[in-house]
Parts: sequence; structure tokens; C-alpha cells
Amino acid sequence: MSAARTVHSLLLVINFVFLFSFSHSCEAQCLEACGFNAIYQFGDSMSDTGNSIIEFPQAYHSRLPYGKTIGKATGRSSDGLLIIDYIAQSAGLSWLEPYENPNSTFKSGVEFGFAGAAALPVQTLLKWNIPPRITNNSLDIQLQWFDKHLHTTCNVTQDCQEKLKSSLFMVGEIGANDYDAAFIQGKTIEEVKTVMVPAVLQAIKDAVTKVISYGATRVVVPGIFKVGCAPALLTLLASNTSTAYDTFGCLKNYNDFFAYHNDHLQLALEELRKEHPTVHIVYADLYNAHQWILDNHVKLGFTSIVETCCGKGGKYNFAMGMTNMCGAAGIPVCSNSKGHVFWDEWHFSHEANKYLSEWIINDMLPKLQCSM
Ligand SMILES: *[C@@H]1O[C@H](CO)[C@@H](O)[C@H](O)[C@H]1NC(C)=O
Ligand SMILES: *[C@@H]1O[C@H](CO)[C@@H](O)[C@H](O)[C@H]1NC(C)=O
Ligand SMILES: *[C@@H]1O[C@H](CO)[C@@H](O)[C@H](O)[C@H]1NC(C)=O
Ligand SMILES: *[C@@H]1O[C@H](CO)[C@@H](O)[C@H](O)[C@H]1NC(C)=O
Repeated sequence: MSAARTVHSLLLVINFVFLFSFSHSCEAQCLEACGFNAIYQFGDSMSDTGNSIIEFPQAYHSRLPYGKTIGKATGRSSDGLLIIDYIAQSAGLSWLEPYENPNSTFKSGVEFGFAGAAALPVQTLLKWNIPPRITNNSLDIQLQWFDKHLHTTCNVTQDCQEKLKSSLFMVGEIGANDYDAAFIQGKTIEEVKTVMVPAVLQAIKDAVTKVISYGATRVVVPGIFKVGCAPALLTLLASNTSTAYDTFGCLKNYNDFFAYHNDHLQLALEELRKEHPTVHIVYADLYNAHQWILDNHVKLGFTSIVETCCGKGGKYNFAMGMTNMCGAAGIPVCSNSKGHVFWDEWHFSHEANKYLSEWIINDMLPKLQCSM
């Protein structure tokens, strides 16, 4: 009895400490309350759990040290898990299997995200002199895959609608690759704002409208993180004026640009909510989740916020060129990946993804209104 009570009060103390050490707290399985039968994810390398390595088996992220924290390389662009893995776990589902892998069983939904994917089709980007990316599997192509997948699993006009009612749709993060390519191509922020942002937002709106037409009732649309803090952007678009940088060492004008995209994305989602009042369309605020990590990085155990863990050279532990990048022969890996927000030049570490997903799940859970 007394031992049980001691354990009980100890648990209370632990709970107390836990609650006060995180501004956001949610039990590991909190999305389970939604009873999702499946998750369908569209996006780029932020969510790709193994599609791109089917088409590009030689890609660096098909082998170690990618995946080293979970003991094997899976095609995820991280040392371990991605945000979508933590979201699936929280929903009580297994990790999403990639659409392109013939061995996938799709028991918990489908991962359509593809590393390098853009929101806009390759032809649209070419029109603006943005050269073809390593992949053409943009958002519209991923939606075609979704349509194909449905035709093999349910009757699209009938029981798919019923099945998808209880599913979670994740449309994004997507669009960062379009913008990054434009900036690296020398486009100015003003140009990208005027020409590309409306097109990217329309592509995302079209994708949301499309999944709703198939029967989606809960659609989460993530914004873009603070890419102005990513080692690749900091290296490729470095500024020679110190005032261009914020106190974390990030490029302010690029972060402002991504905030601009996010603000307009939220306005677009507001329009979609008016058109589809019975559908829960939820914005996932990756930008502020990332900001929360920056603000609390010391407490969270991060010692490096703008340098890669896996990479070599320059101010940010990253240099251009295939032989210098994470995964190439002889490229060093930091001894403590947990201390790094970024794993490689564009991608978050396993540890950062854990905190980002925790923040996002806490933020989106009430908005999904699962108990109603
Ligand atoms: C599918 O499974 C087989 C048998 O385990 C394996 O040999 C093959 O490499 C797998 N294919 C892919 C693309 O993972
Ligand atoms: C991608 O699209 C471009 C332009 O339409 C085409 O030339 C190229 O072959 C495509 N690449 C792949 C891998 O399909
Ligand atoms: C799908 O449902 C529609 C409407 O009930 C029906 O007409 C059609 O035959 C079904 N198709 C298949 C492949 O079962
Ligand atoms: C800083 O960079 C700009 C453009 O990148 C260049 O025009 C300018 O001369 C540079 N200034 C210095 C002090 O290097």
C-alpha cells in the first residue's frame, strides 16, 4: 500500500516536472483519440519514408549514416525518424510505407512524399527558367498515385468515401523545394513572392480540394519551417552584411519570406474552410515549432542550431559538391547527433523532428476536433 503510494506520488512529481519543463505537453499516443484508420501523406524529403530510394537506389540517403540513430537506412532524410513517423506513432499506427516500394502493405496508409519533390510541375518551373529537379514527382503526380492506389483498394465512388472519412490527410510540407531552387537560381525574394507564391499556394489548394473530393474529412496542411536557418541556404545564399542575420545566425530576409508564404497559406486555408465547412482543415505551424526549438534550444539539449551534424567544410559544416556531402566517402558525422537541430544541409535530425512533432501534435490536436 505505502509502496504503491510512494510510486504514485513519485509519478505525480514526474508528471509535474514534465509539465513544467515543456510548454507543450501531450502523451505519446494522444492522436489515438482520433481513431484514424490510415494516414495519407503528400510532400517532399521532410516526409519521404522510402520512395525516392526506389527510383534512385544510389542516393546517399539510401545508406548509412542516414538512419544511424534507428540502426538502419530507410530512405528517410534524417539520422532517424521524420515528423510523419512521430505523428503515425501518436495516432497508434505503424510508420507509413512508401507508395513506390512493391513490398509495402499499406496497413496504416500511404506515404506519397518524394525527396526533392516540388509543389509545381516541372513544366511550370521550366517556364520560369528553373531547371528540372532530380525528380518530376511533384504534388500533382503524387495525387495521381493516390487515385491509382484507391482504385486498387476500394470503390472510389462508394466505399472509399466511407473509408477515408476516418483517415488523416497530410498535404505538405511542400513548396520549399520550389522556392529554394528559385533562390539558388538567382531569383530575388520579390520576384518569387509575385510569381511563385500564388502558384504554389494554388497547387496546395488544388491538392486539398482534391482529397476532399475523395472523402477526406481531416486535412492537415503544414507550413514551411525557417529555411533561412538551414545550413545549405546559409551557405549558398550567404550575405556579407552582419545585419542580414538574426541572433540565432539565420538569414532574416529568407525567414521573412517563408513566413510570408505561411501567412498566405493560412489565408488560402481559410477560404477552403468556407468552401468546405464540414471538413476540418488544420494548419500545422512548422515555422513556430522550429522557432520554439530555437528559443528553447539550450534547455532541449541542442548545442548546434545552424550547422550540420553530417557534413564537412565552411561555416555551417557543409560544402557544395557530391564528394563533400553527407553520405559521401569519408564525410564525418558528429558524435552527438542529439545536440544538432540539423542532421544534414537541409534536413532536421531525429531529435529535432521529435520536438517539432510534439509541438505540432499538441497544437493541432484540439483543432482536429476528434472527440466531436
Ligand atoms: C522486397 O522484399 C524482398 C524480400 O524480402 C527483398 O529482397 C527486396 O529487396 C525488397 N524490395 C525492396 C524494394 O525493398
Ligand atoms: C522530367 O520532365 C522533363 C521535362 O518534361 C523530362 O525531360 C524528363 O525526362 C523527366 N524526368 C524524369 C525522370 O521523368
Ligand atoms: C462502385 O459503386 C458503384 C455505385 O454503387 C457501382 O455502380 C459500381 O459497380 C461499383 N464498382 C465496383 C468496381 O465495384
Ligand atoms: C556584398 O555583396 C554584394 C552583393 O552580393 C556586393 O555587391 C557588395 O560589393 C559586397 N560588399 C562587400 C563589402 O563585400
